[in-house]
Amino acid sequence: MTTPLELQDIAVEIATEAGDLALRRRTEGVAIAASKSTLADIVTEADREVEALIRERLAAARPDDGFVGEESGNAEGESGVTWIVDPIDGTVNYAFGMPSYAVSIAAVTGPVDPGEWTALAGVVHAPALGETFRAAAGHGAWLGGRRLAVTTDAPAGALLATGLGYDSATHAGDLETLGRAMPLARDIRRIGAASLDLAFVAAGRLDGYFERGLKPWDVAAGRLLVDEAGGKTGWFEPDAFGRPLTIVAAPELFERLRAAILG
Ligand code: IPD
Repeated sequence: MTTPLELQDIAVEIATEAGDLALRRRTEGVAIAASKSTLADIVTEADREVEALIRERLAAARPDDGFVGEESGNAEGESGVTWIVDPIDGTVNYAFGMPSYAVSIAAVTGPVDPGEWTALAGVVHAPALGETFRAAAGHGAWLGGRRLAVTTDAPAGALLATGLGYDSATHAGDLETLGRAMPLARDIRRIGAASLDLAFVAAGRLDGYFERGLKPWDVAAGRLLVDEAGGKTGWFEPDAFGRPLTIVAAPELFERLRAAILG
């Protein structure tokens, strides 16, 4: 039986190689390969290439595990462990030359559903920022040699992050949600990569984060980072557009955010 720490080490090694490739492709220029849900929701050639690399490395290291990737689909495994992969989270940042993008790799067990799985290990590696956030279940969340902890006090109001996604039909509703959270906020950040929003909450760089419509690969590694840093993570019922709501923060702020947003 492989331990969460061993899975974490595999994820760190593969995410580092994948991040190097993403960074290299970025300096060579980025080609947009296609649009996904909307014209604004893009995939680059690099997303596909980086995911292919991760998939190949995981298949070599862990041939019996399942795989769920943003770009190349799912494969069931036999070991009970499934890898959930976003090769480049923050693709629009990546395409625009902003440094806030990350390779996100997590190992989970149980159903491929963020409301039901148990996360075992997770890595959010941001090559252009030179930062690798990692967590293994029961062993804490770490950035290099620093153990991460969520903030527990926000006397000037909470520094919150959110995202509005790439479908303009949902923006009005998301702005309404933002309006409900604002009384708790010191200010708002929109970083553009959900995995980094989650890592930054774990690291105490943000007090909390909420967003509708995230996908399993956006949250798999980052939510484990927050849990292991002493935070609380929620994955709530989808709205009328079928978008589940993610909320993460320290436990007390989490409850206040939940009440403000959901009533
Ligand atoms: C996106 C980013 C973004 C969030 C979107 C995600 P992608 O992931 O995490 O911050 O607002 O909902 O789809 O497409 O860049 O991997």
